[in-house]
Amino acid sequence: MKVLRIPQISAEEYIEKQIVKIRETVGGGRVLLALSGGVDCSVSAALLSKAGVKLTCILVDHGFMRKNEANEVKNAFADWDLELITVDAEERFLAKVKGVSEPEQKRKLIGEEFIRVFEEQAKKIGVVDFLAQGTIYTDVIESENKDGKAAVKSHHNVGGLPESIKFKGIIEPVRELYKNEVREISAILGLPDYITKRQPFPGPGLAIRVIGEVTKERLDVLRDADYIYREEIAAAGLNTDINQYFAVLTDMRSVGVKDGMRTYGYIAALRAVNTVDLVTARFARLPYEVLEKVSARITSEVVPRGGIGISRVVYDITDKPPGTIEWE
Ligand code: XMP
Repeated sequence: MKVLRIPQISAEEYIEKQIVKIRETVGGGRVLLALSGGVDCSVSAALLSKAGVKLTCILVDHGFMRKNEANEVKNAFADWDLELITVDAEERFLAKVKGVSEPEQKRKLIGEEFIRVFEEQAKKIGVVDFLAQGTIYTDVIESENKDGKAAVKSHHNVGGLPESIKFKGIIEPVRELYKNEVREISAILGLPDYITKRQPFPGPGLAIRVIGEVTKERLDVLRDADYIYREEIAAAGLNTDINQYFAVLTDMRSVGVKDGMRTYGYIAALRAVNTVDLVTARFARLPYEVLEKVSARITSEVVPRGGIGISRVVYDITDKPPGTIEWE
């Protein structure tokens, strides 16, 4: 059994200790948690649920999630003792980013809207005693480096903490852990593999993987392409080797030919990286056979929306630095 870094105890002991700590801190109070499906907040939710406290989780579906993702999160927690409120906020998020192409502006608008939706839901719930979040040890170090003092991790790193919700304190059940330890605890708690092994996913989601203007049509085209990519990576048994991989929909179009007809679709890019800490990364040397299959499937299977599909697929061979992992 693996010994965790802080404190030097086993994963099982860590779980027990956290449960006791949560019970002592929260008592009969209500805890509110923004649940995105990421492993950190999912494990936090699971620990709080195991502790038997009154827990309400809010899943804000901003419409920028990957294919089936909102349902996967709901299914993962279907048998857990917690209240899960899913907010279908796709339309209002799409309205917010309509006509916006600049990445930082997208992030800012999405972050602000996220907080607004979260606050609205919190108001409906009434009294909230504690906010919980999935801060992990690397977040603590990063914020210490930034400010010289430990700051609170903001939801999705962009919007900051909700200001209008009054609460007694913050609960961070995985604060002492590194990511691999959170994953280990996730498996022990019995969360499904698609949560335990979930790749890092940016808070603004696919909105920053649709380069340029974000529309429902373009998001749907990307969702399909990304799904095919993930399927093929898994089929090749590479999903546990590569740390992060995803498709990007560029705003460039290119001429192609399909069934003897000229096409003029978007160019999709595939990204796959290996990284220890997300600070530096190397592009993954994917086998050509896998790339070939993904490219063939994407160009033939992705249904055009608004008359535009994907006519060409390219592979990103940029390390970080000089590139970032995400394109925006
Ligand atoms: P970059 O693109 O900066 O990404 O090399 C490093 C890691 O961070 C993820 N990422 C985000 N995560 N909110 C997040 O929670 C964000 O706004 C965000 N932007 C990038 C990215 O997927 C990669 O794992």
